[in-house]
Amino acid sequence: MTFLEEVNRRRTFAIISHPDAGKTTLTEKLLLYGGAIHLAGSVKSRKTNKYAVSDWMEIEKQRGISVTSSVLQFDYDGCRINILDTPGHQDFSEDTYRTLMAADSAVMLIDVAKGVEAQTKKLFAVCKERGIPIFTFVNKIDHFGKSPIDLMEDIENSLGIRAVPMNWPIGINGNYKGVFDRESNTVELFAKDESHGTQKLASVKGSVDDPAFRDLLGKEEHQALIDDIELLDVAGDSFDIDRVRAGELTPMFFGSAMTNFGVKPFLEKFLELAPSPAPRKALEKTVQPTSEDFSAFVFKIQANMNPNHHDRIVFMRICSGKFEKGMSVVHQQSGKTLRLSQPQQFMATERTIIDEAYPGDIIGVFDAGTMGVGDTLCDAKHRVTFGDFPVFPPEFFARVSPKDTMKRKQFLKGMTQLAQEGAVQIFEQPSAMDSFVVGAVGMLQFEVLEYRLKNEYGVILENNQLPYSVARWVDGNVDIASLKGLDNAMTVIDNRGRTVILISNEWQMGWIQERNPDVTFLETPRLNEA
Ligand code: G4P
Repeated sequence: MTFLEEVNRRRTFAIISHPDAGKTTLTEKLLLYGGAIHLAGSVKSRKTNKYAVSDWMEIEKQRGISVTSSVLQFDYDGCRINILDTPGHQDFSEDTYRTLMAADSAVMLIDVAKGVEAQTKKLFAVCKERGIPIFTFVNKIDHFGKSPIDLMEDIENSLGIRAVPMNWPIGINGNYKGVFDRESNTVELFAKDESHGTQKLASVKGSVDDPAFRDLLGKEEHQALIDDIELLDVAGDSFDIDRVRAGELTPMFFGSAMTNFGVKPFLEKFLELAPSPAPRKALEKTVQPTSEDFSAFVFKIQANMNPNHHDRIVFMRICSGKFEKGMSVVHQQSGKTLRLSQPQQFMATERTIIDEAYPGDIIGVFDAGTMGVGDTLCDAKHRVTFGDFPVFPPEFFARVSPKDTMKRKQFLKGMTQLAQEGAVQIFEQPSAMDSFVVGAVGMLQFEVLEYRLKNEYGVILENNQLPYSVARWVDGNVDIASLKGLDNAMTVIDNRGRTVILISNEWQMGWIQERNPDVTFLETPRLNEA
């Protein structure tokens, strides 16, 4: 296969949803149809102590949520699919947001009974801002839920995007029998089976005008389908791939991940419509995926995936060029030349060493501590720098130190590591060198921090919550001592040496701004924008 063919057959996407909408189940069913696994059933077996393929850490198992994002790769119909598994719990949103930077499209999963939920909205906003195409899968249609028309309205009202149904469920709400494919005018009826979704579901396909299908459906249901389709044709948006690619229109599908109903038609259509790797803006130029000069950016770092070895794996998304095992690349931020040996791909808890990878692929490489989230790796002769990742302002703060002062070294190592992974943001207070101030976007991050420091570095944390909820970055040339109204604020330094003030609330911030009208207080640090 040529380099171009390899690039064009890649589909790299993330599934975005509110917890419990069925992301784990759908991911697994896509793997089932892709032939990567032969028997599904992780969600059920979660209860019997076997976990979904993308769960890694002990804490995930205990909570039954996915803390880390993993990448799953498989082939289907000539396409090479990379699913970025985004953590669904709302407290892990920052990691999820970063994962979305590595995706070329997103599948928005909606629970038929609940419609658009809070977490979906937040993630949708990030996708929209990045202009990535969004495909909607309405899940759990084996259950009673909202009507398809109501869901279309819900999407439009809650998200401001028009939905165009690619298929339409046939039958009675909660007891659908199949889906109608609007493009080909065909009906696909799914067989009832006894496998509880562990195996692929059989179906029969045929024309909507075929009397045999009318009989199978029953006269009334057949007529209801014809009426719905007419209504959609007249009143709905027509499918327009350019609007989809611009993120203005979302193709909508119906199904049930649990019973496998509609999963295959969705997968096939999605692969046909979803974009192959897109060009990426760098500071110097726009990097075309078809360029043969290697470039990639780090979107995630994970340490200690194997608790027996203190390893640190850096996940990068390849943007251009072919990756070959052992190749040397430049790490733009440090200027160092690095040899990318032992590149890994991940599937469940198994790692495979890979020899080559292409734009759109995600690879993990071992790194001793040079690379940070957002960093660029590129060909020495064709250097590019991808812009900084957006930083999400922390809203919870705590002062942390090791309970046992003898563990200071491990404490520093662990904290630095977790900050580089982007799990938390750490700040230093020049007057208190033995502790850090930690900022997080959600409270659960503190629990994860405590857990990981204990399990991976043997450090028990002393954790004191601080009464702040707002952080503001101040320009380097401002003399902090001259600022007025900071009596109740704390001044700290972030990991790039920038000054940050921590304040109790927005109201107090307004008050400080009034007293220092000429100073700019930034909600996020200034970025190296591409
Ligand atoms: P998440 O990763 O998005 O959080 O969701 P997950 O796949 O874990 O699914 C959440 C629950 O929804 C699971 O139930 C799962 O079985 C169920 N589910 C997923 N897809 C479907 C579907 O198409 N139809 C129906 N009816 N349910 C679905 P659970 O946690 O095992 O609880 P339980 O309902 O089995 O007791």
